[in-house]
Amino acid sequence: MKRIAVLASGNGSTLEAILMAIERGQIQNARVTLVNSDQEKAYALVRAEKYGIPWALFRKEDYPDRESYDRALLKRLQAEQIDLVVLAGFMRLVSPVLVAAFRNRMMNIHPSLLPAFPGTRGVADALAYGVKVTGCTVHFVDEGMDTGPIILQEALPVREDDTVESLTEKIHRIEHRLYPKAIDLWVRGKIKVEGRRCYLEQTETGAPERLG
Ligand code: GRF
Repeated sequence: MKRIAVLASGNGSTLEAILMAIERGQIQNARVTLVNSDQEKAYALVRAEKYGIPWALFRKEDYPDRESYDRALLKRLQAEQIDLVVLAGFMRLVSPVLVAAFRNRMMNIHPSLLPAFPGTRGVADALAYGVKVTGCTVHFVDEGMDTGPIILQEALPVREDDTVESLTEKIHRIEHRLYPKAIDLWVRGKIKVEGRRCYLEQTETGAPERLG
């Protein structure tokens, strides 16, 4: 049984999608055993409570800098024997100390087709740029911002009448399907990382298969 920690700063719809996927049996042999937020008002914590998931509140104002925050969080994650860390709208850059401890065991989901439009305004930036296609990306977390090896991506067309709100909603719907799929692949040990590239391990032919 893999133990998953979800880190969320906001609404937590992604968290709930993961919890529902586990309940439906779409992700097997895994449980979310901890939800952490840096924001006490995060609705994600209400959702954790609703599902009976233990939660923690590591507030950034209680730590002098990012690294001491991450060291404290890392201690807790290790104490809870967490196997996989899932960032779900966690609005903090993760420092190298945490990245190194969870190399290829920490995922993020981003609302654009990376490497286009990283950062906190992925949807708005893509719309303002005028792209005709955007999407979302699940990737492992490395030391950069939204730069780690890509696990899954899905594209969607941008319509001329799309707004930030309409596009965000459409992307969310895809994210809520794509993230559980990536987590399930990881839990089943299906993801092999070589440099920047993620492969499905062990197909019938023995050849690695590209994901996404
Ligand atoms: C998602 O759109 C995700 O792409 C981004 O943050 C958003 C989280 O939304 N990283 P929610 O708080 O899970 O509803």
